[in-house]
Amino acid sequence: MCGIVGCIVAKGNVAPIIFECLKRLEYRGYDSAGIATIHEGRILVRKDAGKLSEIDAKLDLKGLPGSIGIGHTRWATHGAPSQANAHPHLDGSGTIAVVHNGIIENFMELKRELLELGHTFRSKTDTEVVAHLIQEMMKKGMDILTATAETLRKVKGSYSLAIIHTGTPDRVILARNESPLIIGIGEGFMFAASDAAAFLPYTDKAVYLENGEVAVLKIDEYKIFKIDDLRSVNRSHVVLKWTVEEAQKAGFPHYTLKEIYEQAQTVREALRLQLTYVDLVVELLDRGRDVFLLGAGTSYHACLAGSYIFSKLARLSAYPVIASEFVENYGSSIGVDTVILAVSQSGETIDVLNALEYARLRAATILGLTNVVGSTLTRISRAYVLQNSGPEIGVAATKTFTSQLTALMFLALRLARKRGKVSQAEMDALQEDLSNLPSLVNKVVKDSEPIVKEIAKQLSNAELLLFLGRGISYATALEGRLKVMELSYIPCIAYPAGESKHGPISIIEEGQPVFFVAPRDETRRYIIGNVMEMKARGARAIITCERDDDELQGLADISIPMPPTNPLLSPILYTIPYQLLAYYLALERGNDPDKPRNLAKSVTVL
Ligand code: M6R
Repeated sequence: MCGIVGCIVAKGNVAPIIFECLKRLEYRGYDSAGIATIHEGRILVRKDAGKLSEIDAKLDLKGLPGSIGIGHTRWATHGAPSQANAHPHLDGSGTIAVVHNGIIENFMELKRELLELGHTFRSKTDTEVVAHLIQEMMKKGMDILTATAETLRKVKGSYSLAIIHTGTPDRVILARNESPLIIGIGEGFMFAASDAAAFLPYTDKAVYLENGEVAVLKIDEYKIFKIDDLRSVNRSHVVLKWTVEEAQKAGFPHYTLKEIYEQAQTVREALRLQLTYVDLVVELLDRGRDVFLLGAGTSYHACLAGSYIFSKLARLSAYPVIASEFVENYGSSIGVDTVILAVSQSGETIDVLNALEYARLRAATILGLTNVVGSTLTRISRAYVLQNSGPEIGVAATKTFTSQLTALMFLALRLARKRGKVSQAEMDALQEDLSNLPSLVNKVVKDSEPIVKEIAKQLSNAELLLFLGRGISYATALEGRLKVMELSYIPCIAYPAGESKHGPISIIEEGQPVFFVAPRDETRRYIIGNVMEMKARGARAIITCERDDDELQGLADISIPMPPTNPLLSPILYTIPYQLLAYYLALERGNDPDKPRNLAKSVTVL
């Protein structure tokens, strides 16, 4: 989730303004940054790894001359944070510069074609391919706009792009698909940025680009076209009423709610894993004699759900383990045949790193699933996969959890295919379920929000909440419990529903709220029994189940209806109402949902 900026000024130099804009976008990514301008017919670029202010202190970003330019603040996805991988990227002739937010899915294929044509590349990024492709199109006589549109017709994936070319030093070319891009119209300034926070101190007049559009930005005009056929689009500006902070939160009152809403997009990005790395991880998982999925907190819950998915799809027994318990529990049996897939959003959780260091010294194979390139986990892993969620600012993990689950599902499916454990028909059905996932996520967020808001009102004074689920839904129950507990501070318990009668049922008295996670899977008939047992003792059953599951709906005191889904994908969808519940309970109880007390985003103490 990088931040991009394009800017043209009528007077003076543009670089100090781009720098200020980038500072307001740093929440979108901060591992490297750079600016390119056009000056005296040449493109000048300054960029490096590190934070914006550090790079400026070293390279004087603000000192670049020129009245037109582009800038970027990066959250690495393809290629570690480094000077070479920092944006802007140039084409082979050094006359085209590009900044990009998003993922070019087919960049390997395109790069191969360009290498055959004699292009050489300086970075490991997907973005550089765009600059070279535009160059190739321009060699055929196309102007910069036509060449960009033609390039984008070959590109698959998500992007917002800002492009400058020395041949047309009066304009910035923009394009958008799935990643946000907004034009800002000022007096003597024109902007384009990933969000309006970048340019709000200069102007409140904004024009939103839509998916599949390309635009030309000049000092006194903007023109929008469809990428498909370059037919022109008329769109006038809107006047924004946001403060910079509100714009950074895209109008949401808190980052946590924004991140819950972002999940349709982040799940989509998590499906854009780089196959080369996925297959390496899959190969190494396949070779393991003992395979562990290791994580802490929410990431452990992803491991638990992942263990069901690997077992059911790929017939791989992968043992989920809480990182801080690993050495005591399994330490003595670790050896060269052990494979550990560590799941950590930050890649820096000390409990995870400690367990991995122990295993590494005993020659185990370390694999990683993380959101942060360049994190310690990426450095100590033999191979790793990036979940592509972008920075998560809310302390409670929301979008990063559903992305972890999506990535684990993707890995399991690949392994199942390698092992020949799924038929073609099953594979096709699962692929289709995965491609429908982003729109289902969107639907669940929207449909469950009003119901959950009402539940939060009713439960704001609850003294205890119980969460029950069976099979893979036990992981959902644990994650629901953690989310609600850490944001609302209400004591919460989660149990496998089958275990509830072995103890927890004794706490049930009249009116005790019990949440049941009950998708339509092979555990459903048992959970119906558990609901009845609890209700018979006075529990108030709040059941998350399929919208046409009349039997469970009939048993529920309150039901949270869900769309039908493949049971293995249910934790992704069924966790969302609990994320929203946690958020609204926090508000009801006067807590800050973005910064729950006593917690840190990355836990680096043992
Ligand atoms: O960065 P990691 O995924 O390794 O972090 C693990 C936990 O600290 C984290 O999931 C924590 O439990 C969050 N507060 C959950 O919302």
